[in-house]
Amino acid sequence: MQQHTFKQHPRLGTEVLQGGNLRELTNQQRQEFKQSLWENGVIVVRNQNMTASQLQEFTNHTFGESGFKYLPKSLDPDIHPDLQSPGVSILGNPKESSPEIIGQFAWQWHHDKDHLPRTDGLDMNSLYVVMLYGMEIPVQGLDGKPHTTEFIDMVEAYQNLEPGYRRQLEQMSMYHLPPRTYKLGSDVPMKKHPIVSTHKVTGHKGLYLGSDTSIAVGMEDDLSLAKQFWQELFQRILECTPVYAHVWQPGDLVVWDNSQVMHAGIPYDGSKYKRVALRVAAVDKTQIV
Ligand SMILES: [Fe+2]
Repeated sequence: MQQHTFKQHPRLGTEVLQGGNLRELTNQQRQEFKQSLWENGVIVVRNQNMTASQLQEFTNHTFGESGFKYLPKSLDPDIHPDLQSPGVSILGNPKESSPEIIGQFAWQWHHDKDHLPRTDGLDMNSLYVVMLYGMEIPVQGLDGKPHTTEFIDMVEAYQNLEPGYRRQLEQMSMYHLPPRTYKLGSDVPMKKHPIVSTHKVTGHKGLYLGSDTSIAVGMEDDLSLAKQFWQELFQRILECTPVYAHVWQPGDLVVWDNSQVMHAGIPYDGSKYKRVALRVAAVDKTQIV
């Protein structure tokens, strides 16, 4: 197979807890894990072996009980019970009977704070963390390269923009909508947030764009203009900021801080390859003062 090289990033993708087991961490190790997440934006723990409920338990111990309410579902008989737990989603094509891929909307660039517009009491700057645990990994994506998830450092992106453009963006805010909302209406919740955002823990400034359904304040009456503005801004970011690609291995837990990175999944052929990844989201309660 053709060899591909992926560039290291000075922050994103830092490996932590080498040789450690996420089911057996001390409180001090949990604190260091989180500190490393705030410092690096994306961290990776390799060689883990967890069920869905163990992943949920690790999340609750580390970030506090999630405020997101999931209705208890009955078990899906087509999916192994170890992969199922309330609060844990399964991405990929986990059913033997079907190649249908769950989570294709994640193949475009976005931040993940998807529940926040619908969640009272949490602003868009909340410390929203997502963890993805890779159990089965496709051999390659549609691009023929090893299966990856891509990330952009939005602190670096802000620093790389020209000072004049940065000043312009500092005067602007966007409305953020629940995911996959394409039609505005009085029943669609929106939350306003500055484009240049200050991180709650590190104090670093970065860009917060949500997804391409975000609407710059002042463009509410012209949604095509709002989309064009978003796409041009994101294109400028791509032109001056490198993309970091995490190359998946089975057993990887990849954790990212949505206040400082954007991400995109990479398409693969679900009829040829299987992917099973468990996803948990949390807002860190322990840092909020
Ligand atoms: Fe996502």
